Amino acid sequence: MKGLILAGGSGTRLRPITHTGAKQLVPVANTPILFYGLQHMADAGITEVGMIVGDTAEEIRQAVGDGSRWGLEVTYLPQDAPLGLAHAVLIAREFLGEDDFVMYLGDNLLRDGITRFVEQFSEHRRATGTESCSAQILLAPVPDPQRFGVAEIGADGEVVALVEKPEVPPSDLALVGVYLFDPSIHQAVREIQPSERGELEITDAIQWLIDNGHRVRHEVLNGWWLDTGKLTPLLEANRLILEVLEPSNQGKVDEHSRLDGRVSVAEGAEIIRSTIRGPVAIGANTRVVDSYIGPFSSVDADCEIVGSELEHSIVLAHSKVENVPRVIDSLIGRHAVVHRTHQRPRANRFLVGDHCQIDIDS
Ligand code: TTP
Repeated sequence: MKGLILAGGSGTRLRPITHTGAKQLVPVANTPILFYGLQHMADAGITEVGMIVGDTAEEIRQAVGDGSRWGLEVTYLPQDAPLGLAHAVLIAREFLGEDDFVMYLGDNLLRDGITRFVEQFSEHRRATGTESCSAQILLAPVPDPQRFGVAEIGADGEVVALVEKPEVPPSDLALVGVYLFDPSIHQAVREIQPSERGELEITDAIQWLIDNGHRVRHEVLNGWWLDTGKLTPLLEANRLILEVLEPSNQGKVDEHSRLDGRVSVAEGAEIIRSTIRGPVAIGANTRVVDSYIGPFSSVDADCEIVGSELEHSIVLAHSKVENVPRVIDSLIGRHAVVHRTHQRPRANRFLVGDHCQIDIDS
């Protein structure tokens, strides 16, 4: 079994906040979203991973390298333009060869990983023969199926149709961004035509399989899942990941500080005269001095939080929050400074980038 991770396309929607072109590299609980996918591949016992990259290829290569950090062997597969999820399969033909593979959308985040899902496919094919099913999709009930690819399940529990963003959804079961295929998919992606939006749709390729007598299994997801490409607020993603955070302390915590609940303090971080109430992740080399950091906060690497209180917030790398009494529900980008000054005349002074929102206390 091989892995195919889709990290092409550009992430312009999040660029103003993160200064990264690649939406798959946006940090959640101080770890880029894409790294969770790589870890899930490794956990599922996959070693060979093809990575589809587009105009942000350089950034992704820099962050992921050769994949050895996860025990993976990553092969980069450049895609000239984001021409669709099925197009990505088309250009990965040579890499995939005659192997079964798991395809993973690089901007999706799944609580429970993909191990069980991969095992279910392999076990089913072992028990009933490889002819018995050619693909397996993962579905999750959502309140707004109009925004997703949606599956119609027949009376016998089989997938009978897949529709992309239906006005009248046949069910509330959305396609989660993880798919399992055997080599039959290669003919499907060659046979289909581009959709109205000019993309080769994976939903059309799976529909082609069904219409041509292949069986497509499905599983329904139990744990949560987020399609971060759908602009799900980062704070929500952060909260969900922190809920399953493993506490650890590789930094320094002085005797006047307290860590309560699940807190992870990365290497080189220092906590001085401060209280951290988990779940909280503190990144490498970050200093927290005379401050309180409350639940569901992530402070990334190389930050300074001094004389401040922070709760349910994300601070990205290299930023500084100084003498600000109460910061809640906030997302602070990279290299940002938020501080209280005693300059006269008393005023709020801003240097605000594009697409920002600032709410000022009355
Ligand atoms: P999205 O553009 O979010 O694909 P989608 O079909 O889920 O989105 P939409 O809401 O527009 O229907 O891309 C999902 C992931 O796949 C993301 O990491 C980018 C990557 N990708 C590619 O690598 N190549 C492509 O051609 C496309 C379309 C996406």
